[in-house]
Amino acid sequence: PGVIVLENPHCQSGGRVLPASYIKEVRELADERGLPLHLDGARVFNAAIASKRTPAEMAKDFDSVMFSLSKGLAAPFGSMVCGTRPFIDRVRRYRKLLGGGLRQAGFMASAAIVALQTMVDQLIEDHRRAQLLATKIRDIPGIRLEPSVIDTNMVFFRLEQDGLSVPDFLAALSQRGVRMGTLREGVVRAVLHYLVSDHDVDTTANAIRSVLQAEPR
Ligand SMILES: Cc1ncc(COP(=O)(O)O)c(C=O)c1O
Repeated sequence: PGVIVLENPHCQSGGRVLPASYIKEVRELADERGLPLHLDGARVFNAAIASKRTPAEMAKDFDSVMFSLSKGLAAPFGSMVCGTRPFIDRVRRYRKLLGGGLRQAGFMASAAIVALQTMVDQLIEDHRRAQLLATKIRDIPGIRLEPSVIDTNMVFFRLEQDGLSVPDFLAALSQRGVRMGTLREGVVRAVLHYLVSDHDVDTTANAIRSVLQAEPR
């Protein structure tokens, strides 16, 4: 191996934040093996807000960091890679090789600056609404939250209603004006973001209930 990568928060685990002790152990392993440690921090601002730490604290054990400006920070576009000067020089070269070079990217960078300056603090609202959604749907028959603990802005749940597939569930939900997705077999993912209000969370819970009642058991 040439690098160790950790994703924090970890999407497939339900947007859970990695324990600091685990990161420390992996840092030690990386040092023992002489490997760089990279943070896939696509949602690292969510991890920081959820663990009441600064993004810099979340990044301190890593040699390089990537984070998304879209997703919860709500810029229309873009991600950042951070690291040492020689590392970034290599990153620029690879970006160009892979066709990722952009001209006149400044107008997109200005949206990213707005995201960084104005959107970070509101992530706590996305997290609160994820908790709210989880509370509203956790007792609906046919729904099992997985995981049942929610750290950030994502709610994952398994469908446990005979005869109702995830694609059919998602299509029926979409007809009721609510869009969700799926990342693995049998599991639905709901993502909260700044355009989703408390009222929308109510609408979402009602739509889920209505689909499960309308569809065959
Ligand atoms: C966890 C994670 N890592 C990395 C990426 C890649 O981001 P980008 O395509 O902006 O480089 C994504 C994007 O969806 C992601 O969710």
